[in-house]
Amino acid sequence: MIATRYQQMIKRLGNLIDSRMEADGPPPDTLARFFNWALSGAWRVIGLAAFISALAGATEVLAMFLLGRVVDIAASTQPIGDSAGLLIGAVVLLMVLRPALFGLSASFQSVVVGPNLFTLVVGRLHRWTLGQAVTFFDNDFAGRIAQKQMQVARSITETVIETVNAVLFALATVIGTAFLIITIDARLLIVLAFWIMSYVFFLWIFLPRIRSRSKARAGAAAMLTGQVVDTITNIKTVKLFAGTLHESDAAQSAMQDLRGRALAYGEVATLFRFGLITLAGVLPLAMVGFGLSWRDAGVTPGDLAAIGAVSIRLSQMTGWVSFVLMAVFSHIGEVEDGMKTLTPPHQLTDNVDAKPINVTAAEIEFRDVSFQYGGAAGGIGGINLTIKAGEKLGIVGASGAGKSTLVALLLRLYDPENGDVLIDGQAVRGVTQDSLRAAIGMVTQETAMFNRSARDNIIYGRPDATDAQMIAAAGKAEAHDFIGDLRAGRRRPVCTRSGGPSG
Ligand SMILES: Nc1ncnc2c1ncn2[C@@H]1O[C@H](COP(=O)(O)OP(=O)(O)OP(=O)(O)O)[C@@H](O)[C@H]1O
Ligand SMILES: [Mg+2]
Repeated sequence: MIATRYQQMIKRLGNLIDSRMEADGPPPDTLARFFNWALSGAWRVIGLAAFISALAGATEVLAMFLLGRVVDIAASTQPIGDSAGLLIGAVVLLMVLRPALFGLSASFQSVVVGPNLFTLVVGRLHRWTLGQAVTFFDNDFAGRIAQKQMQVARSITETVIETVNAVLFALATVIGTAFLIITIDARLLIVLAFWIMSYVFFLWIFLPRIRSRSKARAGAAAMLTGQVVDTITNIKTVKLFAGTLHESDAAQSAMQDLRGRALAYGEVATLFRFGLITLAGVLPLAMVGFGLSWRDAGVTPGDLAAIGAVSIRLSQMTGWVSFVLMAVFSHIGEVEDGMKTLTPPHQLTDNVDAKPINVTAAEIEFRDVSFQYGGAAGGIGGINLTIKAGEKLGIVGASGAGKSTLVALLLRLYDPENGDVLIDGQAVRGVTQDSLRAAIGMVTQETAMFNRSARDNIIYGRPDATDAQMIAAAGKAEAHDFIGDLRAGRRRPVCTRSGGPSG
């Protein structure tokens, strides 16, 4: 009963952010606007999480305050009965308020924000990447792009969670501490302020260095993934050319580069941690020391206990907070690194008024078409060609003559630099890309197989095909018996790609 109630509550909390929300327009390429693009639609919930975390931070100080009052009672001669209110207050704070706020804060971190933000951001980035033109993928490593999508989404999520949970929690504790101290001796506030200034100065020196070194480290990590995935994807070519050694050297050099960057990061991180722990020790020393020396001005033993507890707590917390800040700045560096790769505008887009293509006769015309892949030579030039409806045409030419380029232009994988390609009088650059490519059947030189079931591979171009259509297609490709044998275990998959057909 309680268990199902709890599960229902978690489920409801988990749905507070809709992780499928689409982004507003293209991703900006400056940090703040990029964060806003990635997180738009979730800000209200993030704000709520921040508020709860700050409340939890404030209860910490309240607990220290109560501790101080208890010490005062112990030192005085009043009967315990006079302090019933205080005891009830302590029970309510420690047994009700504090667990409730911390529990709520934890659920916001692990249920509301964590799982949803990652999905939200990686979904947005992935949608944007899929819309990039072929050129975008021609010019980069697949593994590098994938790694950056994951890295950016993870880093944005962590930045939010850690800022909300640590930074705001700490801020609330610091403000609460300031209030507590004012009630004791306002001069102590000056001590605290002075210490906070040194702390902020320390962060100001170190955090930018951490950020830039983390950015370099993230770049090197993505490069290594790119290198490794590229080798594995093309493993047949690698073996064919006896290139294993060469590939492992290339990967090794990327690994060494990453190691160097990680060392540079470690160098600054170590110094940062060392300086910080030293600085943290100064706070309780100074606060209790000054408190003691101002005993004549009415600082009670209870006050001293409260000051001591709160400043030890604060100094422990600053260690933790700076660790978190270090992580946050590392994440920001990683986001900056990934942003550069992932935010370029799409090179090939549908016109705003693009309509699906309407193929009636299927006459194809190349009208004065030139295309050189953006270079000064190569590609094709001045092509005028009409292929009548129903006409079958074989195009023959030396390697590099431009046969594949011609087909790529028909499919609008690139836009011609000059001229137009038309189907039934409609320029291919004027119709929607999806409708154009759905209307053309294309068999390439290279085989391609997704690491999914044979069924998913066969119906990829027409996901709504019936089983009969799927089997007919497999039969035409003379693959039906082969797949049947595999399923029945009569044959082992021999010449298949990674994973091989299954299901
Ligand atoms: N991605 C590319 N970037 C730059 N130039 C390219 C690219 N792809 C092809 N080219 C150039 O365009 C020209 C035509 O190449 P294309 O691939 O269309 O030839 P092809 O006739 O299909 O050759 P093959 O018979 O080898 O398949 C060549 O000169 C080639 O160098
Ligand atoms: Mg070709």
